[in-house]
Parts: sequence; C-alpha cells; structure tokens
Amino acid sequence: MIFGRSPRAHRLEVTLTDDVLVVHGGTPLQGQIRVRGAKNLISKAMVAALLGESPSRLFDVPRIRDVEVVRGLLELHGVKVSDGQDDGELVMDPTNVESASTDQINVHAGSSRIPILFCGPLLHRLGHAFIPDLGGCHIGPRPIDFHIQALREFGAVVDKQPEGMHLSAPNGLHGAKLELPYPSVGATEQVLLTAVRAEGVTELRNAAIEPEIIDLICVLQKMGAIITVHTDRVIEIQGVPRLHGYQHKPIPDRIEAASWAAAALATKGEIEVLGARQADMMTFLNVFRSIGGEFQITDDRVARPGVTGAEGGIKFWHPGHELQAVALETDVHPGFMTDWQQPLVVALTQARGLSIMHETVYEQRLGYTDALNQMGATIQVYRDCLGGTPCRFGRRNFKHSAVIAGPSKLHAADLVIPDLRAGFAHLIAALAAEGTSRVYGVDLINRGYEDFENKLAALGAHVERQN
Ligand code: EPZ
Repeated sequence: MIFGRSPRAHRLEVTLTDDVLVVHGGTPLQGQIRVRGAKNLISKAMVAALLGESPSRLFDVPRIRDVEVVRGLLELHGVKVSDGQDDGELVMDPTNVESASTDQINVHAGSSRIPILFCGPLLHRLGHAFIPDLGGCHIGPRPIDFHIQALREFGAVVDKQPEGMHLSAPNGLHGAKLELPYPSVGATEQVLLTAVRAEGVTELRNAAIEPEIIDLICVLQKMGAIITVHTDRVIEIQGVPRLHGYQHKPIPDRIEAASWAAAALATKGEIEVLGARQADMMTFLNVFRSIGGEFQITDDRVARPGVTGAEGGIKFWHPGHELQAVALETDVHPGFMTDWQQPLVVALTQARGLSIMHETVYEQRLGYTDALNQMGATIQVYRDCLGGTPCRFGRRNFKHSAVIAGPSKLHAADLVIPDLRAGFAHLIAALAAEGTSRVYGVDLINRGYEDFENKLAALGAHVERQN
C-alpha cells in the first residue's frame, strides 16, 4: 500500500521512472556529511545581485534546484551567471540587465516562490517587472498580500492577470512607513530588496529577523546599502541611488543541519554535520537536548584545506537510552523553526510519552503525519492550539497541533513525498523503519538538500534507485 499523495497522480506529474528510492531501513546512520550555504539565503542573495552595477560573487552555493531556478531567471534578464574558480562559487554579472518576455519567464511558473522577490530589483533596473505564478511547497494557502501591499506603498502599480503579475513604477519607488501584520520572511525580504534603492527612508515594523535575513542585510550592506536593525523588529533602510556587486560566504544551512540531526536521533545513529553553526541553531539544540539527544560542537578545530573533517561543525548522536517526550511550538525567529518540525516529529515517535507539536507558522503543515501513522506511529492532529499560547490559527478550523505518543515501532511502507521538509521526514521514517520502503517523488528533495543520496550512502544507509 502507498501512503501520501496518490502515487499514480504523482508519477504522472513527475513522469520519471527513476524518481523512486528503495530504502532498506533499520540501520543507524553514522558518519560525517557537510552542509553548504543556506538555501533560504542563497536564492535571495542571488536576486540581490541584480541590484548591483558590477559583478557579485557568492561562495559555498549548493547544487540544488532552487538555485537553478533563480539562475535561469537571472539569465533571462541578461545577468551573466558563471561558475567561479572555487567549488560552489557563483559569479553574477548584472551589467546588462534586460527585459524578458512573459512566455520565457513563464517557463519558471510554479517552480519556486523566489520569483516574487524579483519585483523591487527589476523595477529599479528596468522600470517594469513580470512575475510568473509562484510555486513552492504546498503547506497552506501561502498568500502574497503583504508583498503586494508593501510594493504599492513604495509606489509600484501592480496588475494581477491570470498569466502572472505585471508591475510598473511610473513615478519611481519611494521609501515608506510599513508594518507587517505578521513577521513574514518573504515580505521582509521584499521590503529590503525594494527599499535599498528607493528614494528616501523606509521604516519596516514587525519585520522578520531570521538569521538568513540578517545575512541578506549583510549582503546588501556590502553592496552599499544603509540598513539599521533596531530593537522590537524594526528595520530602517535609507535608500541609496546605486549599489555595486558583493563577495559573500553565506551562513550555513541550519534547516539541513537539523534534518540530519533528527535523522541521527530517529535511526539511533551518530552524524557529524560539518559546517553547521551553533549560533544559528541554539533553539534547536536546546530541544534536541531536552529529548535526550547528545551533541558536541566541533567547530573549534583549525580548518585545513583539503583535509576532510578538519573544518568541524556539530556532531549529533542518540544517547543509547530511551528518548523523552517534549511539548513544542514552532515560531518565527528566535523560536523553533517550522522547517525543523517535520524531521523532528519522526524522532519524537521514538520518545517515551506524549509529545506535542503546535505549528503556528503554517496552517496546513501536519498532513504528512498520516503516512507516519500508517508506518506504525501514533500521531493525532487537532484544531486546538495545544501546549502553548493560542495562535492565529486557533479559531480557524485548521488541524495545526499534533500529539505524538511514543515510542512506536515503525515498519516499512511505500510513501509519496508531499513537500520538501515533509519529504525528508518521510525519508527519515523509512530509514528508521524495519524492512524495505519505496519512497516516490524523491527528486523533490533535491530542491533543498544537495546531493542527499550520496550523503546517505556516506552515512551507511542502504538505499538505491528503483530500476
Ligand atoms: C520562508 O517562506 C521559507 N522559504 C520557508 O521555507 C520557511 O518555512 C518560512 O520562510 C518561515 O520561516 C524561503 O525562504 C524560500 P513567510 P516564506 O512569508 O517567506 C503568511 C522551506 O522548506 N503570509 O515567513 O514564504 C504565510 O502564509 C520553506 O525551505 C501571509 O499571510 O514564509 C505564513 O503563514 C518552506 N501573507 C506566514 O506568513 C504574505 O504575503 C509566514 O510565511 C506572506 C506570508
């Protein structure tokens, strides 16, 4: 039996016969893997390159699909993108930015949510922009009303059409006083990428302050922007007439690092995540420790070029005794990230007692638990706000709290990957389960996890592509 989305429908969608991973579970994952720059910074830093009048260099860029999508869109707009000398170095030359046709841009429709962030930079460079229909993971309605509202306040004219969104700025873009109804990551980035070259000062209240956003602010500052992060989620941006290129080594991917940490716990293994950084993961590390997981910060080693493992990171391992249940809620930074939730829930199926996971960022991000239940987990989802403070979804009929009763013995199943993070969670469940599982749609994982099959092999997982 196959759990998750209809496998038939999914296979039609992907039309690939090699999109299935056969997972022989039950083996603890052990070894070292490395994470590179954070997906959720890299793609935005690539968009920022459009704002400069000279080339930018970004290092440690992972080979993932989101990077390919943004690269394609940049190239369509005349940016010359090439690989630099170092492995993972990307050079972007925006000297000759030009318009692209809606048909060309629409090739990227539905492939990612990043295109919405091209609005400000394209308006500054070309005076107009066309944004295709967005894609990204199906984890709730994911509206873009905050983005559109902010763009209009800057002076943009936004015309929503069935084929996408046309924008122009007949009177230029001007600084504005803005307040977000919720500290949205994307809307904060939209404001930053637009305000840096808008005329005058922009004040953004209730901004998101995730480490990836602070890193984007570092990128923009390198380009010549003037941005102040005040207390209480207030960001002030003083517009400047022109920006230049940057060189930047991005923050490591703290979502990928936490995913591997959860995999170590769920499979009773030990994984050292090279490149992971303690400062970005403090909230996760506290929870990991509360469950009973052990970790050691290994970044005090001296990095030596070419010597594997010299770089250090964080080593995560299962304690060898039973894990403990915890009550948690996801939140904006510095809270527990919504993207850490799904892999960790798999580990929580192995903890004794009742764990609670209250998802407060996305209203529909617990659907993947059905498949875990079919594998032997006991997870009940509720409409109420359980275990923490009431959130904005509480009275709106969304099943956004989960109670996980453990420990449960997981058994193999055939699974269809629903979205990026839930997909990785399914993969972890298959690796932790006894027996052979088939995971359909694994190519979706390439959107955010570089080279994950080789990493699995390096950790001793028994996985192979279905022929
Ligand atoms: C970013 O999405 C990340 N994506 C997500 O990671 C991450 O889960 C999320 O931030 C929260 O940290 C990228 O960076 C590419 P939001 P984003 O705007 O910016 C509501 C992953 O797997 N909202 O902070 O789209 C929205 O519906 C992905 O890597 C509005 O109502 O998230 C949600 O409930 C998945 N109107 C909440 O705000 C708007 O106009 C937070 O969304 C915008 C958002």
